Amino acid sequence: MKPDWEITGKCQICGVIGDPVEHTVSPIMHNAAFKALHLDYVYVPFKVSKQDLRNAVAGMRALNIHGFNVTIPHKVDIIPLLDEIDEFAGKIGSVNVVLNENGQMIGYNTDAHGFLYALLDQGVEPEGQRVAVIGAGGASRSICFALAERGAVLTILNRTPEKAARFATEMSEMTGQPIQVMALNDENLAGALDNAGILINTTSVGMYPQSDESPVKHDLIKPHLTVVDIIYNPFKTRLLLEAERAGARTISGIDMLVWQGALAFEIWTGRKAPVNVMRKEAQRFLKGHEK
Ligand code: ATR
Repeated sequence: MKPDWEITGKCQICGVIGDPVEHTVSPIMHNAAFKALHLDYVYVPFKVSKQDLRNAVAGMRALNIHGFNVTIPHKVDIIPLLDEIDEFAGKIGSVNVVLNENGQMIGYNTDAHGFLYALLDQGVEPEGQRVAVIGAGGASRSICFALAERGAVLTILNRTPEKAARFATEMSEMTGQPIQVMALNDENLAGALDNAGILINTTSVGMYPQSDESPVKHDLIKPHLTVVDIIYNPFKTRLLLEAERAGARTISGIDMLVWQGALAFEIWTGRKAPVNVMRKEAQRFLKGHEK
């Protein structure tokens, strides 16, 4: 009997480049999806240091690797090494997916729309809503861009407000949406959350091993809010646990992870991603490894 999934000489190879990559959930999610659709594809991790990035991309070309994810620390540095950048990824200035189309390496960004799909999938429409975003790093950039483009009204709260101000100005110019910036403190958070419908943590505060931390004091969280954390280890951060207790709706980092992966899958295979399979496998794996 033919097995339901086997790797033949025609196998298309996908993977992820990053450093570190040992913690990645992407091979679990993508191989489960390939298997579910009986596709002759495989997904593997490639640990690539910053100084080896150029050689790694040359190697990807030489080996005819079909497509790959790009993660920390390469999402910006890879841009000049590719042949074409999708317009949306170019505007954000960050590439997390590459497709090798007959030798042409094309860069895409699925982090931004992955985030948006995670909200829409839970029935949360950010258009016209006020959204408070904590943090102004790389992850925040993709998220803010997707939200501003969708018509959300953003307030970014950052520990170093000067850093956020630069990116808010740039993003306002690109999307035509005004973006407010504030220093991250209790008073500003309280004010921003009174008016906001959605609160998003894009910082690493609350990530393992600092799982007992939260970027927001629990008494500032009101039941009318949707609270989103991009952290998925732990599965439910302190912020999300306290938001649940306050009666707010919560969305975990796992949803963004799954949706950015699903959109990448569709770019590589041209097939609709089996999102439920990907979520189930990612959850199973993360629960087994949860700290
Ligand atoms: P990433 O690319 O994962 O978003 P990053 O670019 O290092 O990571 O950005 C981290 C974000 O988390 C920044 O907004 C950072 O605030 P600063 O701009 O002030 O550095 C924020 N951040 C990290 N640790 C934090 C902490 N302990 N308290 C508040 N904000 C923190």
